[in-house]
Amino acid sequence: MLSRLETLYTDFKNQLNKLNKTNDVLNLKSQILGKTGTLSEILKSLKDATPEERKVLGSKSNQYKNEIEELVQKKLAEIELAEINSTLENSKVDFSLTDSVLEQGLKSSGLHPVSLIQREIEDIFLSMGFEVLDGPHIEDEFHNFEALNIPSDHPARDMQDTFWFQDMKHLLRTHTSTIQVRGMSQRKPPFQFVGPGKVFRNERTDATHEMCFHQLEGMMVGKNITVANLIYFMKTLLKEIFKKDFEIRLRPGFFPFVEPGFELDIRWKKPGKGESPHGGWLELLPCGMVHPNVLKMSGIDPNEYNGFAFGLGLDRLVMVRYGIEDLRHFHSGDLKFVSQFKSF
Ligand code: DAH
Repeated sequence: MLSRLETLYTDFKNQLNKLNKTNDVLNLKSQILGKTGTLSEILKSLKDATPEERKVLGSKSNQYKNEIEELVQKKLAEIELAEINSTLENSKVDFSLTDSVLEQGLKSSGLHPVSLIQREIEDIFLSMGFEVLDGPHIEDEFHNFEALNIPSDHPARDMQDTFWFQDMKHLLRTHTSTIQVRGMSQRKPPFQFVGPGKVFRNERTDATHEMCFHQLEGMMVGKNITVANLIYFMKTLLKEIFKKDFEIRLRPGFFPFVEPGFELDIRWKKPGKGESPHGGWLELLPCGMVHPNVLKMSGIDPNEYNGFAFGLGLDRLVMVRYGIEDLRHFHSGDLKFVSQFKSF
């Protein structure tokens, strides 16, 4: 019986070597290991063997069974790899970046409208003496909330549906105000900077909401800064972005990190569609005077210095400027969408 087993194993290996199709390998496997397969038959006949024979044959059969299964898996993986390689070799796609491919690509693509606006705004602020700062997407609770005057029991935490990490200490930043905190603690006043970037909220996606969107935070800290300074910079920004003057208004708005806090609206007419709702006012930009606690927490003396801050929603601005109705285009990866935007 032992020799039958050994012949079976050698025959199997010889046959397997000759095969190069998945189905043939699976057939061979079932001829041996299937319910009525040759090895299964040998295992069944073990009941007639003596206890000593059964011991030896039993362990040998199991060993061969495992080896056969392993060899079959290995062979199947080899066949799959060979098939992928041959598909790639025969494929008509040219992966090399020739001049003509490059030229075509440059002609038909463009910057994403959010990148376009972000770069324009960075340039506007750079020209006015602001720095452009960056910050991490993964933040800790301190930089996202506590240092912005939002302690753990503050109801304002509920305004921002947060993606927490399992340790419940780290999170995906919910706003770019985190860049304020990092920027302030690394500088001595006077200073001014903007911080653009992606932010994340655990929200259901629809035409005006995405779980990942873009903001641009800005702040100026120095001596005797007033709301008039804030209004000046915001008006200049809007004029540069839309190439026209806007009537603006400030309404009170609540954000724990500013006092007073405002919502800045612009008088807006949808092209060809008459006045927009809310009497033609469009809410565009939350802002305010930096709360003394926020300055203090970043090591700045609020008796000596003050400042303003604002948080611009870049996606909203893009939608308004280009008349885009649905935010979901932004992450669609559709080159046709991306290629149609130019600076104003
Ligand atoms: N961080 C706020 C948010 O995402 C936006 C904001 C409001 C930023 C007021 C500011 C500000 O700097 O002053 O909801």
